[in-house]
Amino acid sequence: MATDGIETLPVTYNYKVVRQFAIMTVVWGIVGMGIGVWIAAQLAWPALNFDLPWTSFGRLRPLHTNAVIFAFGGSALFATSYYVVQRTCQARLLSDGLAAFTFWGWQAVIVAAAITLPMGITSSKEYAELEWPIDVLLAIVWIVYAVVFFGTIMKRQVEHIYVANWFFGAFIVTVTILHTVNSAALPVSMTKSYSAYAGAVDAMVQWWYGHNAVGFFLTAGFLGMMYYFVPKQAERPVYSYRLSIVHFWALISIYIWAGPHHLHYTALPDWAQSLGMVMSLILLAPSWGGMINGIMTLSGAWDKLKDDPILRFLVVSLSFYGMSTFEGPMMAIKTVNSLSHYTDWTIGHVHSGALGWVAMISIGSLYHLIPKLFGKEQMYSVALINLHFWMSTIGTVLYIASMWVNGIMQGLMWRAYNEDGTLTYTFVESLVASHPGYVVRMIGGLIFFSGMLVMAYNVWMTTRRDVPLAISNSETVAATV
Ligand code: HEM
Ligand code: HEM
Repeated sequence: MATDGIETLPVTYNYKVVRQFAIMTVVWGIVGMGIGVWIAAQLAWPALNFDLPWTSFGRLRPLHTNAVIFAFGGSALFATSYYVVQRTCQARLLSDGLAAFTFWGWQAVIVAAAITLPMGITSSKEYAELEWPIDVLLAIVWIVYAVVFFGTIMKRQVEHIYVANWFFGAFIVTVTILHTVNSAALPVSMTKSYSAYAGAVDAMVQWWYGHNAVGFFLTAGFLGMMYYFVPKQAERPVYSYRLSIVHFWALISIYIWAGPHHLHYTALPDWAQSLGMVMSLILLAPSWGGMINGIMTLSGAWDKLKDDPILRFLVVSLSFYGMSTFEGPMMAIKTVNSLSHYTDWTIGHVHSGALGWVAMISIGSLYHLIPKLFGKEQMYSVALINLHFWMSTIGTVLYIASMWVNGIMQGLMWRAYNEDGTLTYTFVESLVASHPGYVVRMIGGLIFFSGMLVMAYNVWMTTRRDVPLAISNSETVAATV
């Protein structure tokens, strides 16, 4: 990173909260993906539901999605945003107390989710299943997060606000609005509430939330990670800073309109469905603009990929981002959606984004971050990072390829008619045909999950290793951008 012409200032950063969130990212990654492997196995061998309500697929599935998105992904976003905002603003977090509150508050939300979801306590809105008392706690934690993040930006010691902070900032602001509007409900007891909306309006609000949870929670925040950690690890400036600004404004202004593609062929007005489809197609441009900006940051340094597995994690995550943001707009076309909807194709698309993009960019960023947070020069074992890289890549490919095969096969089997107008296949026949795919998906998931265990061991050894500190928390730093 260029530091020429930028005054060097002594700053003491708050790394404690970053360390806490970074460690919990690994812990929740293992828990959330472990449950993912379990529910994947249930779909292949239903006996694993154990005939108990608490361990049934219907209850464990939302536990999986909440654990991987909010516990794993959320902790990764807190850790990296708190690290990046301090370093690029050359300022300590606004308040250590408030930052600690966000850590403990967020963990409390996660534990409350882990208790209530298996008990069957749910609002039944996808990705917003938590009941109202937990929603209120979540809103308070989130607002405090916004205060800490934007407060730190306000006390920055450099004039410029680096683009990564714009993405983190948009993610924080938008999630506040999405969560508050979508969770509006009338409580009737401590564990039950009814949505403030009804019918098609409820569905529209839910998918405005759901799609923008993808756009801002699973995308904008992780693009913030990309804009800091890819240039850092590649030791090159961002390919085009101008493109990053265009990328930011285009992405946030288009994403917000695309939600109706989740409600094709429903009671939603037709014009709204068409608007969602068109906006999704346009979304390909900023998504690919961002991906190209990230990947091209390596121009002139491609050789680094040969022996830097952290960079490989980051670059391959961008390739999966490109793949899922090409696939998404295609699936948003109404005629394509009439085949893909309700099938495993959607599940494959989700995990090419979730495993390939979200998890791999987080893992790469953490491998960059953890030695720095614990004052070590590098991770305990680079060979283990390399092993983890291959496990993640192979696991993701097995997962998504098996779901593509299953999805397209299901879509085609369900719509096949005989000459007399009767269905060619029964539903059960399509399930039987899907079974091999479910086994392959489970194996892919197991490999990805095992990679997380390798990571946990490597992180544990890095934090324990008795080596001199490479940096201290009160180092003298120069601007990082
Ligand atoms: C070891 C890794 C993982 C495995 C084995 C796994 C497995 C599964 C399974 C079996 C389902 C249910 C599919 C169905 O209902 O047919 C599912 C759903 C889901 N998973 Fe994962 N998962 C993993 C990692 C992740 C990660 C890291 C994320 C997010 C960052 C994620 C996000 C989701 C989402 C959003 C859904 C709901 C999809 C939908 O409703 O369309 N998963 N996962
Ligand atoms: C340009 C970007 C994208 C577009 C236009 C897009 C579009 C779509 C479409 C059309 C569906 C299927 C809706 C249905 O038939 O029910 C879908 C589902 C989904 N996508 Fe994407 N996608 C994009 C990127 C991503 C990324 C990067 C991720 C993850 C990080 C992601 C996560 C999901 C999830 C979780 C669902 C399942 C929602 C549910 O039904 O539970 N998408 N997306």
